[in-house]
Amino acid sequence: MLSVREAGVNDLLQMQQTNLWCLPENYNLKYYFYHLLSWPQLLYVAEDHKGKAVGYVLAKMEEDDVPPHGHITSLSVLRTHRKCGLATKLMRSSHERMVETFDAAHVALHVRRSNRAAFHLYSQTLNYTIRDVEKGYYADGEDAYDMRKTFAEGKAGVKEALGADAAPVGASEAPTAPPSPKDVGLPPPPAAPAEAGGAAANPPEPPA
Ligand SMILES: CC(C)(COP(=O)(O)OP(=O)(O)OC[C@H]1O[C@@H](n2cnc3c(N)ncnc32)[C@H](O)[C@@H]1OP(=O)(O)O)[C@@H](O)C(=O)NCCC(=O)NCCS
Repeated sequence: MLSVREAGVNDLLQMQQTNLWCLPENYNLKYYFYHLLSWPQLLYVAEDHKGKAVGYVLAKMEEDDVPPHGHITSLSVLRTHRKCGLATKLMRSSHERMVETFDAAHVALHVRRSNRAAFHLYSQTLNYTIRDVEKGYYADGEDAYDMRKTFAEGKAGVKEALGADAAPVGASEAPTAPPSPKDVGLPPPPAAPAEAGGAAANPPEPPA
């Protein structure tokens, strides 16, 4: 069983190892920590039934830009676990949090011209479009497509896309709120009586 979940500090070494196996663009551990400390909501790992990381997405926000937008720093899935929908799931999870948490207007990334698998994922599966071609962007001189996906559909649309994709890889979703009585055709519950002095019946706990 494969699952996708938010990454934590204990995942960073395995994410770095996966990156070293899959891509020539590598980063020191400090850079992974920087992402996790700055935008913990945007990093996801895919793991197998033994809890071994088999894929990751490393993403960040460009918060000083107007409008603020997301950027995919790195994505990879181990060769043994490709074409199972993991990259799609990782990307959609990060997209969703970019919108929900940071109100991102769009997300951008670079991809090698020759990377057919990634290009298919971005352009066909995730609806990114090419904004520009950056000549000699990579260290070996290869050009990059500068690609972008606009979150025109807003929070609801991003959530819907994630939900539709959740089942195939057994992704662990955040628990959803139970349906309201109105949703299931019941009358609304009676309003709670106000306490003397107007205090709420169940006041919130003070912060720990
Ligand atoms: C690119 C990569 C992340 C895709 O991961 P994945 O988990 O296999 O992707 P998914 O299973 O979610 O597939 C997504 C789509 O891409 C397609 N796809 C996957 N591999 C493909 C390939 N080799 N050629 C063509 N299409 C491919 C799938 O068929 C699927 O298409 P669909 O949605 O139309 O059915 C993976 O191949 C990888 O890690 N490559 C090396 C690292 C890399 O290139 N990272 C991206 C750097 S920008």
